[in-house]
Amino acid sequence: MRTFCKLVAVTLLVAACDGQKQQAQQQEQKTDSLVVNVYTHRHYEADKELFAQFEKQTGIKVNVKTASADELQKLMEMEGDKCPADVLITVDAGRLVRAKEKGLLQPVHSQVLNANIPAHLRDPEGYWYALTQRARVIVYHKDKVKPSELSTYEALTSPKWKKRILVRSSDNIYNQSLLASIIAHKGEETALLWAKGIVANMARPPKGNDRDQIYAIANGEGDIALVNTYYLGQMLNSKEPTDTLAAKKIGIFFPNQQDRGTHINVSGAGVARYAPNKENAIKLLEFLTSDQAQQVFAQANQEYPVKTGVPLSSILASWGSFKADTLNIAQLGKLNATAVKIFDMAGWK
Ligand SMILES: [Fe+2]
Repeated sequence: MRTFCKLVAVTLLVAACDGQKQQAQQQEQKTDSLVVNVYTHRHYEADKELFAQFEKQTGIKVNVKTASADELQKLMEMEGDKCPADVLITVDAGRLVRAKEKGLLQPVHSQVLNANIPAHLRDPEGYWYALTQRARVIVYHKDKVKPSELSTYEALTSPKWKKRILVRSSDNIYNQSLLASIIAHKGEETALLWAKGIVANMARPPKGNDRDQIYAIANGEGDIALVNTYYLGQMLNSKEPTDTLAAKKIGIFFPNQQDRGTHINVSGAGVARYAPNKENAIKLLEFLTSDQAQQVFAQANQEYPVKTGVPLSSILASWGSFKADTLNIAQLGKLNATAVKIFDMAGWK
C-alpha cells in the first residue's frame, strides 16, 4: 500500500513537473512571439508614446533600434537574413524606394492599411506605406514679403527674388524629392532650368537644416525659404522662446494651388525582408495608421495624417486646407538619381 502511495505520489510529481515544463514552454513561446523589433531614425516623443500605447493594447513589446536613416539601411544590408528587424521606419519616399530596391523589405497585404492610406501614399506592391505627410512649402518673412507676391515653386526663379532665397543643400533628400516631383511633372529640361534659377537667387550658399533656414529668415539673412511644414509647426509649439520668437515672424505659403498642388512627402514604414515577427510587424503598421495614432502624429509632431478624417492639431488647422500634389510618391524615389544629377549640373551645392 505504502509502495503504491509512493508510486502515485511520484507519478503525480512527474505529471506536475511535466505540466509546469509545458506551461513554461508555452510561456516561452508566447514571450518570443510577443515582440516586434523596429529600426527607426525618427527620434520623436510622439513615436515613443505610440509604441507605449501599442504595447499596452496588444501586449507586444516594441524593441527600438535607432541610428541615422542611412546607417540603418546599411546595417540591414550587412545583417542580411540574420537581421532581427521586423519593421523599418524612415522618412522620405526616396529612402523608402531605396530600401525596397536594395531588397530590405517584403511586400505585405492588409485591408486595414489599404483602407487607411490613400493609394498614392503607398508602394503599389505593398513594400512600404506612408505613416504621415509633410508639405514642402514656401515660408517668408511677414514684414518683407506679401503672400500675394507668391504663387508657385517655378515663380521663385524670377529675378525679383535675387539674393533673397534660403534653402538647404542638394544632398538633402527633401530637396531631391522636390526636384524629382518637378521632373515628373515638367521634364528634366525644365527641372534643370528651375534648379539653376534657384541657385541664381540664393541669399547665401546652402547650409544648415530646414529649421536653420527659418532662423535665418528671422535674422534677416534672406526673405523666403523652402521647408517642411512640421519644422515651423514644432517651432511654434516649442517651449523655447527663441523658437517661438523666430517662428512668429514667419508666414507659410502653399505653392502651386492653381495647378498640380503643393509637393508633399512622407514618413513611412515597411516590413523587413527577414522579419522574424511578421504578423506583429503588420499589426504595428496597422496601429500606426489608426485614428488614435494618426491623431498623435498630428498633435504632438505637427505632421499631417495620411488617414482622412483625422483631426489636425490647432497649428495645422490654422494654416487652412490646401491642394496637395497626388503624384504617386514612389515616383520620387525612382527619379532620385536623375534629381541628384540635375542638382550637380545646376551647381546647387
Ligand atoms: Fe525632417
